[in-house]
Amino acid sequence: MGGLPLSKSKSPSRRLFSSKKEQFPIGLDIGSHAIKVCKVVRAGDSFKLVTLGTAKLPEGAVEDGILQEPEEVAATIANLINNLKIKDKKVAISISGYSVIVKKINLAVMDDNDLEEYIQAEVGQYIPFDIDEVYLDYQNLHTNTEEYDRTDVMLVAAKKEVVDGYLSMLQSAGLNVVLVDIGAFALENIYDENYGLDDNVALVDIGATKMSINIVSQGISVLARDVVVGSRQLTDHIQNRFGISFDEAEGLKIGYEDVEEKQEELDDIFANTCTQWALELKKAIDLYYSNNPDIALSRIILSGAGSRIQGLDQFFAEEIGLEVETLNPFRKIMSDSKNIDDEYLHYIGPEMAIALGLAIRPSEL
Ligand SMILES: Nc1ncnc2c1ncn2[C@@H]1O[C@H](COP(=O)(O)OP(=O)(O)OP(=O)(O)O)[C@@H](O)[C@H]1O
Ligand SMILES: [Mg+2]
Repeated sequence: MGGLPLSKSKSPSRRLFSSKKEQFPIGLDIGSHAIKVCKVVRAGDSFKLVTLGTAKLPEGAVEDGILQEPEEVAATIANLINNLKIKDKKVAISISGYSVIVKKINLAVMDDNDLEEYIQAEVGQYIPFDIDEVYLDYQNLHTNTEEYDRTDVMLVAAKKEVVDGYLSMLQSAGLNVVLVDIGAFALENIYDENYGLDDNVALVDIGATKMSINIVSQGISVLARDVVVGSRQLTDHIQNRFGISFDEAEGLKIGYEDVEEKQEELDDIFANTCTQWALELKKAIDLYYSNNPDIALSRIILSGAGSRIQGLDQFFAEEIGLEVETLNPFRKIMSDSKNIDDEYLHYIGPEMAIALGLAIRPSEL
């Protein structure tokens, strides 16, 4: 295995594997709360959705991007793919957490060979891991101009141990990993497919245990980071506050359980947690503005099932001072509405964003 392919890397030489024919893998997003799967085929200059689905994981099976219970995860994935009647074996996955580092570095312009040599020799100074212990990939963002002879290069390093754990877990589920990506880049990929990259936006995916932020400005990702906050915090707080089970707390959070006299306290829990999320997001946006004071962001684009909280968009808009919109990953992707209900697609869309961003990446294998 050569390295981790970056989502926008067009050069086949930078991919995990390469061959001639364009094919699309199963997009597989392994979250800490749920597995999301989807499959598309090429249709004109976009795609057609073949099928999609989600399956909840046992609590603790995946934590901070690490497989704690690989057998449970493999079984859940194999079951889901089987239920969806997907025959393909090739999957594209994304990784996240402390074992992955995404870092932008600024270098003098050099040709491709020199850049390769430079990165191999010098990467140690940019990442806190032993170079022999990581898979490495990079992409020259070509930010140099006639007047400015330096360029930004996006470096990605992922711990071999963790990536290999995913590969063997998936092998045991009968699947073959053809592409490994970073969640934030898969998100950018699906946003680009549906909306284009003309606007400067903050893509924000809120899951159960992480908020993944990717600021895309002037067509490139300028800041990508995962923050360890998410919808599980709400469940934990509700559970502790009312002394109830995890499932009951989830039910109260999502509105499946009767709130009764708990409304006021629930409102407090939501307000406190969402304020913390807004602060984290604001920190990233402030950092972006300190480096790009003249390049305004136009919107925050939300995805992830954790963003489904009623009123969160308005709350962020007020706290952060930017328009907020929910990502529709199916904006340009057709579906066979005989098999897949449009209303369901609309509901499930935000949490399928990363899986779909993975599914539209040609695997060339
Ligand atoms: N209507 C809702 N309101 C609030 N939270 C919700 C709602 N629906 C789902 N959630 C929460 O969203 C979380 C799951 O989101 P998602 O599936 O995007 O996470 P994940 O990808 O598995 O996790 P992560 O990306 O953090 O590893 C769960 O905590 C779930 O309770
Ligand atoms: Mg997720």
